[in-house]
Amino acid sequence: MTKKLFIKTYGCQMNVYDSARMADVMAPLGYSASESFEDADLVVLNTCHIREKAEEKVYSELGRILKEKKKKADKGERMLIAVGGCVGQAEGEEIFKRAPYVDIVLGPQSYHQLPEMVTKAIRGKGGVVNLEFEAQQKFDALPEAGASQGVSVFLAVQEGCDKFCSFCVVPYTRGAEYSRSPQAILDEAKRMVGQGALEITLLGQNVNAYHGGTWSLADLIVKLAQIDGLARIRYMTSHPRDMSDDLIALHGCEPKLMPFLHLPVQSGSDAILKRMNRKHTAAFYLDIIERLRAARPDIALSSDFIVGFPGESDRDFEDTLALVEKVGFHSAYSFKYSPRPGTPAAVDDRQVPEAAKDERLQRLQALLQKQMLAANRASVGKTMEVLFDRSGKQAGQALGKNPYMQSVHVLGAPHLQGTLAQVRITAAHGNSVAGEAVEPLMQLRKAS
Ligand code: SAH
Ligand code: SF4
Ligand code: F3S
Repeated sequence: MTKKLFIKTYGCQMNVYDSARMADVMAPLGYSASESFEDADLVVLNTCHIREKAEEKVYSELGRILKEKKKKADKGERMLIAVGGCVGQAEGEEIFKRAPYVDIVLGPQSYHQLPEMVTKAIRGKGGVVNLEFEAQQKFDALPEAGASQGVSVFLAVQEGCDKFCSFCVVPYTRGAEYSRSPQAILDEAKRMVGQGALEITLLGQNVNAYHGGTWSLADLIVKLAQIDGLARIRYMTSHPRDMSDDLIALHGCEPKLMPFLHLPVQSGSDAILKRMNRKHTAAFYLDIIERLRAARPDIALSSDFIVGFPGESDRDFEDTLALVEKVGFHSAYSFKYSPRPGTPAAVDDRQVPEAAKDERLQRLQALLQKQMLAANRASVGKTMEVLFDRSGKQAGQALGKNPYMQSVHVLGAPHLQGTLAQVRITAAHGNSVAGEAVEPLMQLRKAS
Protein backbone atom coordinates (compact mmCIF):
# COMPACT_ATOMS: atom_id res chain seq x y z
CA MET A 1 0.00 0.00 0.00
CA THR A 2 1.42 3.40 -0.90
CA LYS A 3 1.58 6.08 1.73
CA LYS A 4 1.56 9.80 1.12
CA LEU A 5 4.71 11.76 1.92
CA PHE A 6 4.74 15.55 1.88
CA ILE A 7 8.05 17.37 2.24
CA LYS A 8 8.18 21.14 2.51
CA THR A 9 11.57 22.72 2.00
CA TYR A 10 12.81 26.03 3.43
CA GLY A 11 16.19 27.75 3.24
CA CYS A 12 19.11 26.99 0.99
CA GLN A 13 19.73 24.65 -1.95
CA MET A 14 21.36 22.16 0.38
CA ASN A 15 17.93 21.65 1.89
CA VAL A 16 16.46 21.11 -1.59
CA TYR A 17 19.05 18.40 -2.20
CA ASP A 18 18.43 16.87 1.24
CA SER A 19 14.66 16.80 0.69
CA ALA A 20 15.15 14.80 -2.49
CA ARG A 21 17.38 12.37 -0.55
CA MET A 22 14.72 12.02 2.16
CA ALA A 23 12.13 11.16 -0.50
CA ASP A 24 14.58 8.56 -1.89
CA VAL A 25 15.18 7.00 1.51
CA MET A 26 11.43 6.72 2.24
CA ALA A 27 10.47 5.30 -1.19
CA PRO A 28 11.35 1.66 -0.36
CA LEU A 29 8.94 1.85 2.59
CA GLY A 30 6.08 2.65 0.23
CA TYR A 31 6.03 6.42 0.71
CA SER A 32 5.46 8.38 -2.46
CA ALA A 33 5.94 12.12 -2.68
CA SER A 34 2.86 14.32 -2.87
CA GLU A 35 2.31 18.01 -3.60
CA SER A 36 0.14 18.82 -0.58
CA PHE A 37 -0.01 17.92 3.09
CA GLU A 38 -3.73 17.11 2.97
CA ASP A 39 -4.26 13.51 3.94
CA ALA A 40 -0.50 12.90 4.13
CA ASP A 41 0.75 9.97 6.23
CA LEU A 42 4.09 11.67 6.83
CA VAL A 43 4.80 15.39 6.70
CA VAL A 44 8.43 16.50 6.82
CA LEU A 45 9.32 20.16 7.26
CA ASN A 46 12.91 20.63 6.12
CA THR A 47 13.63 23.85 7.94
CA CYS A 48 16.00 26.82 7.98
CA HIS A 49 17.34 28.62 11.04
CA ILE A 50 19.36 31.36 9.35
CA ARG A 51 17.14 34.30 10.36
CA GLU A 52 14.36 34.66 12.91
CA LYS A 53 11.72 34.94 10.17
CA ALA A 54 12.76 31.62 8.67
CA GLU A 55 12.29 29.96 12.03
CA GLU A 56 8.90 31.59 12.70
CA LYS A 57 7.58 30.35 9.35
CA VAL A 58 8.07 26.80 10.55
CA TYR A 59 5.88 27.25 13.61
CA SER A 60 3.07 28.90 11.68
CA GLU A 61 3.16 26.08 9.12
CA LEU A 62 3.06 23.53 11.95
CA GLY A 63 -0.16 25.17 13.17
CA ARG A 64 -1.77 24.62 9.75
CA ILE A 65 -0.56 21.03 9.59
CA LEU A 66 -1.93 20.31 13.06
CA LYS A 67 -5.46 21.01 11.76
CA GLU A 68 -4.97 18.40 9.05
CA LYS A 69 -3.50 15.96 11.54
CA LYS A 70 -6.65 16.32 13.68
CA LYS A 71 -8.90 15.76 10.67
CA LYS A 72 -7.03 12.59 9.91
CA ALA A 73 -7.27 11.47 13.52
CA ASP A 74 -11.06 11.95 13.36
CA LYS A 75 -11.07 9.37 10.57
CA GLY A 76 -9.08 7.02 12.80
CA GLU A 77 -5.89 7.56 10.78
CA ARG A 78 -2.53 8.87 11.84
CA MET A 79 -0.37 11.63 10.36
CA LEU A 80 3.24 11.73 11.49
CA ILE A 81 4.95 15.12 11.57
CA ALA A 82 8.73 15.37 11.36
CA VAL A 83 10.77 18.54 11.73
CA GLY A 84 14.13 18.21 10.01
CA GLY A 85 16.77 20.66 8.86
CA CYS A 86 18.52 23.40 10.76
CA VAL A 87 15.66 24.31 13.14
CA GLY A 88 15.50 20.64 14.08
CA GLN A 89 19.21 20.60 14.83
CA ALA A 90 19.24 23.94 16.67
CA GLU A 91 16.17 23.44 18.82
CA GLY A 92 16.04 19.68 19.25
CA GLU A 93 13.57 18.57 21.91
CA GLU A 94 12.50 22.18 22.55
CA ILE A 95 10.27 21.72 19.48
CA PHE A 96 8.14 19.18 21.35
CA LYS A 97 7.52 21.77 24.06
CA ARG A 98 6.27 24.38 21.63
CA ALA A 99 4.55 21.90 19.31
CA PRO A 100 3.85 18.69 21.26
CA TYR A 101 2.05 17.15 18.28
CA VAL A 102 5.35 16.85 16.37
CA ASP A 103 6.40 13.19 16.29
CA ILE A 104 9.97 13.33 15.03
CA VAL A 105 12.81 15.85 15.27
CA LEU A 106 15.95 15.25 13.28
CA GLY A 107 19.02 17.21 12.23
CA PRO A 108 20.51 17.47 8.74
CA GLN A 109 23.03 14.68 9.36
CA SER A 110 20.41 12.11 10.38
CA TYR A 111 18.28 11.72 7.25
CA HIS A 112 19.49 8.21 6.52
CA GLN A 113 17.86 7.24 9.83
CA LEU A 114 14.44 8.65 8.94
CA PRO A 115 12.88 5.25 8.04
CA GLU A 116 13.92 3.81 11.39
CA MET A 117 12.61 6.87 13.22
CA VAL A 118 9.28 6.67 11.37
CA THR A 119 8.92 2.99 12.31
CA LYS A 120 9.65 3.86 15.95
CA ALA A 121 7.16 6.72 15.90
CA ILE A 122 4.45 4.52 14.40
CA ARG A 123 4.97 1.97 17.14
CA GLY A 124 5.16 4.44 19.98
CA LYS A 125 3.54 7.73 20.78
CA GLY A 126 6.05 9.84 18.91
CA GLY A 127 8.70 12.10 20.38
CA VAL A 128 11.56 10.49 18.46
CA VAL A 129 14.73 12.59 18.23
CA ASN A 130 18.00 12.18 16.35
CA LEU A 131 20.56 14.95 16.25
CA GLU A 132 23.67 13.03 15.25
CA PHE A 133 26.38 15.18 13.81
CA GLU A 134 28.37 12.97 11.45
CA ALA A 135 28.00 14.05 7.81
CA GLN A 136 30.08 11.12 6.62
CA GLN A 137 27.64 8.52 7.96
CA LYS A 138 24.77 10.25 6.23
CA PHE A 139 26.41 10.26 2.82
CA ASP A 140 27.66 6.69 3.19
CA ALA A 141 24.24 5.44 4.23
CA LEU A 142 21.99 7.23 1.75
CA PRO A 143 20.65 5.04 -1.07
CA GLU A 144 22.41 4.98 -4.43
CA ALA A 145 19.46 5.22 -6.75
CA GLY A 146 17.34 8.33 -6.61
CA ALA A 147 14.36 9.68 -8.48
CA SER A 148 15.19 11.99 -11.39
CA GLN A 149 15.24 15.65 -10.37
CA GLY A 150 14.94 17.02 -13.90
CA VAL A 151 17.34 18.80 -16.26
CA SER A 152 18.95 21.05 -13.66
CA VAL A 153 19.98 19.25 -10.49
CA PHE A 154 21.82 19.83 -7.22
CA LEU A 155 24.61 17.60 -6.03
CA ALA A 156 26.02 18.03 -2.50
CA VAL A 157 29.80 17.64 -2.49
CA GLN A 158 30.64 19.32 0.79
CA GLU A 159 28.70 20.03 3.92
CA GLY A 160 29.27 21.98 7.11
CA CYS A 161 31.37 25.00 7.91
CA ASP A 162 34.40 25.76 10.08
CA LYS A 163 34.39 29.51 9.46
CA PHE A 164 32.23 30.67 12.39
CA CYS A 165 31.22 34.07 11.08
CA SER A 166 29.98 35.79 14.22
CA PHE A 167 26.39 36.22 12.93
CA CYS A 168 25.81 32.75 11.55
CA VAL A 169 24.17 29.56 12.85
CA VAL A 170 25.38 27.26 10.08
CA PRO A 171 28.51 25.91 11.83
CA TYR A 172 26.25 24.89 14.73
CA THR A 173 23.46 23.37 12.64
CA ARG A 174 25.50 21.71 9.89
CA GLY A 175 28.58 20.80 11.87
CA ALA A 176 32.21 20.64 10.79
CA GLU A 177 33.31 20.87 7.19
CA TYR A 178 33.13 17.51 5.45
CA SER A 179 33.95 16.70 1.81
CA ARG A 180 32.58 13.62 0.04
CA SER A 181 34.91 11.38 -1.91
CA PRO A 182 35.46 12.32 -5.58
CA GLN A 183 34.41 8.81 -6.66
CA ALA A 184 31.05 8.98 -4.86
CA ILE A 185 30.41 12.38 -6.45
CA LEU A 186 31.40 11.26 -9.96
CA ASP A 187 29.16 8.18 -9.65
CA GLU A 188 26.23 10.28 -8.50
CA ALA A 189 26.82 12.83 -11.28
CA LYS A 190 26.88 10.08 -13.94
CA ARG A 191 23.66 8.65 -12.58
CA MET A 192 22.04 12.09 -12.68
CA VAL A 193 23.17 12.65 -16.28
CA GLY A 194 21.85 9.18 -17.13
CA GLN A 195 18.48 10.34 -15.76
CA GLY A 196 18.44 13.41 -17.99
CA ALA A 197 20.35 16.08 -16.07
CA LEU A 198 22.00 18.65 -18.35
CA GLU A 199 23.17 20.97 -15.60
CA ILE A 200 24.66 20.09 -12.22
CA THR A 201 25.11 22.62 -9.43
CA LEU A 202 27.66 21.41 -6.91
CA LEU A 203 26.56 22.33 -3.42
CA GLY A 204 28.27 23.02 -0.14
CA GLN A 205 27.98 25.56 2.64
CA ASN A 206 31.55 26.36 1.66
CA VAL A 207 31.74 24.56 -1.62
CA ASN A 208 35.09 25.96 -2.70
CA ALA A 209 36.65 24.66 0.53
CA TYR A 210 36.06 21.20 -1.01
CA HIS A 211 38.99 18.84 -0.56
CA GLY A 212 38.35 15.23 -1.49
CA GLY A 213 41.70 13.68 -0.59
CA THR A 214 44.11 15.61 -2.81
CA TRP A 215 41.32 16.87 -5.07
CA SER A 216 40.34 20.51 -5.03
CA LEU A 217 36.96 21.75 -6.28
CA ALA A 218 38.67 22.74 -9.55
CA ASP A 219 40.02 19.17 -9.99
CA LEU A 220 36.55 17.81 -9.37
CA ILE A 221 34.98 20.14 -11.94
CA VAL A 222 37.57 19.18 -14.56
CA LYS A 223 36.65 15.50 -14.11
CA LEU A 224 32.90 16.17 -14.07
CA ALA A 225 33.22 18.16 -17.29
CA GLN A 226 34.36 14.96 -19.03
CA ILE A 227 30.96 13.35 -18.52
CA ASP A 228 29.26 13.09 -21.92
CA GLY A 229 25.83 14.63 -21.97
CA LEU A 230 26.51 17.01 -19.11
CA ALA A 231 26.36 20.51 -20.55
CA ARG A 232 26.74 22.86 -17.59
CA ILE A 233 28.43 22.95 -14.22
CA ARG A 234 27.87 25.49 -11.45
CA TYR A 235 28.85 25.58 -7.78
CA MET A 236 27.65 27.37 -4.67
CA THR A 237 28.11 28.84 -2.09
CA SER A 238 31.71 29.99 -2.13
CA HIS A 239 33.71 31.85 0.47
CA PRO A 240 36.20 34.54 -0.64
CA ARG A 241 38.97 32.97 1.48
CA ASP A 242 38.71 29.70 -0.46
CA MET A 243 38.66 31.22 -3.95
CA SER A 244 41.83 29.44 -5.07
CA ASP A 245 43.95 30.25 -8.12
CA ASP A 246 43.12 26.98 -9.90
CA LEU A 247 39.39 27.65 -9.55
CA ILE A 248 39.72 31.21 -10.83
CA ALA A 249 41.82 29.99 -13.77
CA LEU A 250 39.28 27.27 -14.57
CA HIS A 251 36.66 29.93 -15.25
CA GLY A 252 38.85 30.98 -18.17
CA CYS A 253 39.34 27.57 -19.78
CA GLU A 254 36.50 25.14 -18.96
CA PRO A 255 33.56 25.85 -21.27
CA LYS A 256 31.14 23.72 -19.23
CA LEU A 257 31.81 25.86 -16.15
CA MET A 258 29.20 28.62 -16.35
CA PRO A 259 30.33 32.29 -16.28
CA PHE A 260 28.60 33.04 -13.00
CA LEU A 261 29.76 33.17 -9.42
CA HIS A 262 27.84 33.69 -6.19
CA LEU A 263 30.46 35.04 -3.82
CA PRO A 264 29.03 36.48 -0.59
CA VAL A 265 30.92 39.50 0.79
CA GLN A 266 28.42 40.56 3.52
CA SER A 267 29.87 44.07 3.98
CA GLY A 268 32.19 46.57 2.31
CA SER A 269 33.58 47.86 5.60
CA ASP A 270 36.79 46.32 6.90
CA ALA A 271 35.87 47.15 10.51
CA ILE A 272 32.58 45.28 10.14
CA LEU A 273 34.12 42.40 8.20
CA LYS A 274 36.58 41.99 11.05
CA ARG A 275 33.84 41.90 13.66
CA MET A 276 31.90 39.47 11.47
CA ASN A 277 34.98 37.23 11.66
CA ARG A 278 34.99 36.98 7.88
CA LYS A 279 38.80 36.94 7.77
CA HIS A 280 38.95 38.98 4.57
CA THR A 281 38.93 42.66 3.71
CA ALA A 282 37.05 44.58 1.03
CA ALA A 283 40.29 44.94 -0.96
CA PHE A 284 40.87 41.16 -0.80
CA TYR A 285 37.40 40.63 -2.24
CA LEU A 286 37.88 43.22 -5.00
CA ASP A 287 41.17 41.59 -5.95
CA ILE A 288 39.41 38.23 -6.45
CA ILE A 289 36.84 39.94 -8.66
CA GLU A 290 39.60 41.50 -10.72
CA ARG A 291 41.37 38.17 -11.20
CA LEU A 292 38.09 36.43 -12.08
CA ARG A 293 37.39 39.06 -14.70
CA ALA A 294 40.89 38.71 -16.10
CA ALA A 295 40.24 34.96 -16.51
CA ARG A 296 36.66 35.33 -17.76
CA PRO A 297 35.78 38.92 -18.72
CA ASP A 298 32.04 38.30 -19.03
CA ILE A 299 31.62 36.53 -15.68
CA ALA A 300 28.42 37.54 -13.87
CA LEU A 301 28.70 38.14 -10.14
CA SER A 302 26.28 37.75 -7.31
CA SER A 303 26.63 38.20 -3.56
CA ASP A 304 25.01 38.25 -0.11
CA PHE A 305 24.89 41.32 2.11
CA ILE A 306 23.93 41.92 5.71
CA VAL A 307 22.95 45.44 6.77
CA GLY A 308 22.72 46.63 10.35
CA PHE A 309 25.29 44.26 11.79
CA PRO A 310 26.00 45.33 15.43
CA GLY A 311 28.10 48.50 15.45
CA GLU A 312 27.58 49.26 11.73
CA SER A 313 27.80 53.05 11.37
CA ASP A 314 26.53 55.15 8.47
CA ARG A 315 30.13 55.31 7.28
CA ASP A 316 30.46 51.50 7.34
CA PHE A 317 27.27 51.24 5.36
CA GLU A 318 28.56 53.77 2.81
CA ASP A 319 31.58 51.48 2.35
CA THR A 320 29.19 48.67 1.45
CA LEU A 321 27.49 50.86 -1.16
CA ALA A 322 30.91 51.84 -2.52
CA LEU A 323 31.92 48.19 -2.90
CA VAL A 324 28.69 47.45 -4.76
CA GLU A 325 29.36 50.41 -7.08
CA LYS A 326 32.86 49.13 -7.78
CA VAL A 327 31.88 45.53 -8.55
CA GLY A 328 28.61 45.87 -10.44
CA PHE A 329 26.56 42.80 -9.54
CA HIS A 330 24.19 40.87 -11.81
CA SER A 331 22.11 39.87 -8.80
CA ALA A 332 22.36 39.74 -5.02
CA TYR A 333 20.59 38.87 -1.80
CA SER A 334 20.53 41.37 1.03
CA PHE A 335 19.25 40.92 4.55
CA LYS A 336 18.74 42.86 7.73
CA TYR A 337 20.94 41.47 10.46
CA SER A 338 18.94 39.05 12.58
CA PRO A 339 20.42 38.12 15.99
CA ARG A 340 20.61 34.35 16.31
CA PRO A 341 20.70 32.56 19.64
CA GLY A 342 24.10 31.14 20.47
CA THR A 343 26.08 33.28 18.02
CA PRO A 344 28.61 35.87 19.31
CA ALA A 345 27.10 38.86 17.46
CA ALA A 346 23.71 38.32 19.09
CA VAL A 347 25.05 39.39 22.50
CA ASP A 348 26.93 42.42 21.11
CA ASP A 349 25.54 45.53 22.84
CA ARG A 350 25.86 47.73 19.75
CA GLN A 351 22.67 46.46 18.06
CA VAL A 352 21.47 48.75 15.25
CA PRO A 353 17.89 50.10 15.58
CA GLU A 354 15.32 48.50 13.29
CA ALA A 355 14.55 51.79 11.52
CA ALA A 356 18.19 52.25 10.50
CA LYS A 357 18.32 48.64 9.25
CA ASP A 358 15.17 49.25 7.18
CA GLU A 359 16.52 52.43 5.66
CA ARG A 360 19.88 50.85 4.77
CA LEU A 361 18.27 47.77 3.31
CA GLN A 362 16.09 49.93 1.06
CA ARG A 363 19.05 51.96 -0.17
CA LEU A 364 21.18 48.90 -0.82
CA GLN A 365 18.39 47.04 -2.58
CA ALA A 366 17.63 50.06 -4.77
CA LEU A 367 21.25 50.13 -5.92
CA LEU A 368 21.40 46.36 -6.48
CA GLN A 369 18.11 46.48 -8.35
CA LYS A 370 19.50 49.20 -10.62
CA GLN A 371 22.57 47.07 -11.36
CA MET A 372 20.44 44.03 -12.06
CA LEU A 373 18.28 45.97 -14.49
CA ALA A 374 21.40 47.31 -16.21
CA ALA A 375 22.77 43.77 -16.58
CA ASN A 376 19.43 42.55 -17.92
CA ARG A 377 19.31 45.42 -20.42
CA ALA A 378 22.86 44.70 -21.56
CA SER A 379 21.80 41.23 -22.70
CA VAL A 380 19.04 42.50 -25.02
CA GLY A 381 19.82 41.71 -28.66
CA LYS A 382 22.26 38.93 -27.75
CA THR A 383 21.70 35.26 -28.51
CA MET A 384 22.57 32.83 -25.74
CA GLU A 385 22.00 29.31 -24.55
CA VAL A 386 19.12 28.88 -22.11
CA LEU A 387 18.31 25.78 -20.10
CA PHE A 388 14.54 25.61 -19.71
CA ASP A 389 13.90 23.84 -16.45
CA ARG A 390 10.49 25.17 -15.43
CA SER A 391 7.20 26.25 -16.89
CA GLY A 392 6.04 29.79 -16.14
CA LYS A 393 2.79 31.11 -14.67
CA GLN A 394 1.27 31.92 -18.05
CA ALA A 395 0.07 29.10 -20.29
CA GLY A 396 2.80 27.90 -22.64
CA GLN A 397 5.45 30.06 -20.99
CA ALA A 398 8.86 28.40 -20.68
CA LEU A 399 11.25 29.57 -17.96
CA GLY A 400 14.97 28.98 -17.78
CA LYS A 401 18.41 30.33 -17.03
CA ASN A 402 21.08 31.65 -19.36
CA PRO A 403 24.77 31.03 -18.57
CA TYR A 404 24.82 34.20 -16.43
CA MET A 405 21.97 32.91 -14.22
CA GLN A 406 19.56 35.48 -15.57
CA SER A 407 15.97 34.23 -15.65
CA VAL A 408 14.76 34.01 -19.23
CA HIS A 409 11.17 33.51 -20.27
CA VAL A 410 9.74 32.69 -23.66
CA LEU A 411 6.02 32.89 -24.36
CA GLY A 412 4.04 30.33 -26.33
CA ALA A 413 6.82 27.77 -26.22
CA PRO A 414 5.83 24.79 -24.05
CA HIS A 415 8.01 22.54 -26.26
CA LEU A 416 11.11 24.24 -24.86
CA GLN A 417 10.51 22.80 -21.40
CA GLY A 418 13.41 20.46 -20.55
CA THR A 419 15.64 21.62 -23.40
CA LEU A 420 18.78 23.64 -23.86
CA ALA A 421 18.04 26.13 -26.61
CA GLN A 422 19.56 29.16 -28.30
CA VAL A 423 17.49 32.19 -27.39
CA ARG A 424 17.62 35.75 -28.65
CA ILE A 425 16.96 38.16 -25.78
CA THR A 426 14.35 40.70 -26.81
CA ALA A 427 13.44 42.66 -23.66
CA ALA A 428 14.66 43.34 -20.13
CA HIS A 429 12.57 43.48 -16.97
CA GLY A 430 13.57 44.08 -13.35
CA ASN A 431 14.16 40.44 -12.41
CA SER A 432 14.23 38.65 -15.74
CA VAL A 433 14.62 38.95 -19.49
CA ALA A 434 12.30 37.86 -22.30
CA GLY A 435 13.42 36.12 -25.44
CA GLU A 436 12.53 34.02 -28.45
CA ALA A 437 13.97 30.62 -29.24
CA VAL A 438 16.30 30.29 -32.20
CA GLU A 439 16.59 26.48 -32.16
CA PRO A 440 16.42 23.75 -29.57
CA LEU A 441 19.78 22.14 -28.95
CA MET A 442 19.35 19.16 -26.73
CA GLN A 443 16.25 17.36 -25.54
CA LEU A 444 15.74 15.95 -22.11
CA ARG A 445 16.76 12.36 -22.51
CA LYS A 446 14.42 9.83 -20.95
CA ALA A 447 15.78 7.88 -18.01
CA SER A 448 16.96 4.47 -19.12
N1 SAH B 1 27.84 29.74 3.38
C1 SAH B 1 27.42 30.91 2.79
C2 SAH B 1 26.03 31.39 3.13
C3 SAH B 1 25.32 30.98 4.36
S1 SAH B 1 23.80 31.67 4.79
C4 SAH B 1 28.45 31.97 3.02
O1 SAH B 1 29.44 31.78 3.63
O2 SAH B 1 28.29 33.08 2.58
C5 SAH B 1 23.27 32.69 3.50
C6 SAH B 1 23.31 34.13 3.81
O3 SAH B 1 22.45 34.47 4.87
C7 SAH B 1 24.65 34.64 4.26
O4 SAH B 1 25.53 34.84 3.22
C8 SAH B 1 24.29 35.91 4.98
O5 SAH B 1 24.27 37.00 4.08
C9 SAH B 1 22.88 35.66 5.47
N2 SAH B 1 22.85 35.50 6.92
C10 SAH B 1 23.45 34.57 7.66
N3 SAH B 1 23.23 34.77 8.98
C11 SAH B 1 22.46 35.88 9.06
C12 SAH B 1 21.91 36.62 10.15
N4 SAH B 1 22.11 36.27 11.41
N5 SAH B 1 21.16 37.72 9.85
C13 SAH B 1 20.96 38.10 8.57
N6 SAH B 1 21.47 37.44 7.51
C14 SAH B 1 22.21 36.35 7.76
FE1 SF4 C 1 27.89 30.99 7.88
FE2 SF4 C 1 30.20 32.22 7.53
FE3 SF4 C 1 30.06 29.58 7.37
FE4 SF4 C 1 28.99 31.07 5.48
S1 SF4 C 1 31.17 30.96 5.97
S2 SF4 C 1 28.08 29.30 6.45
S3 SF4 C 1 28.23 32.81 6.60
S4 SF4 C 1 29.73 30.79 9.18
FE1 F3S D 1 19.14 27.70 6.43
FE2 F3S D 1 20.47 25.66 7.32
FE3 F3S D 1 20.66 26.32 4.79
S1 F3S D 1 20.12 27.52 8.40
S2 F3S D 1 20.41 28.51 4.85
S3 F3S D 1 18.86 25.62 5.80
S4 F3S D 1 22.28 25.53 6.05
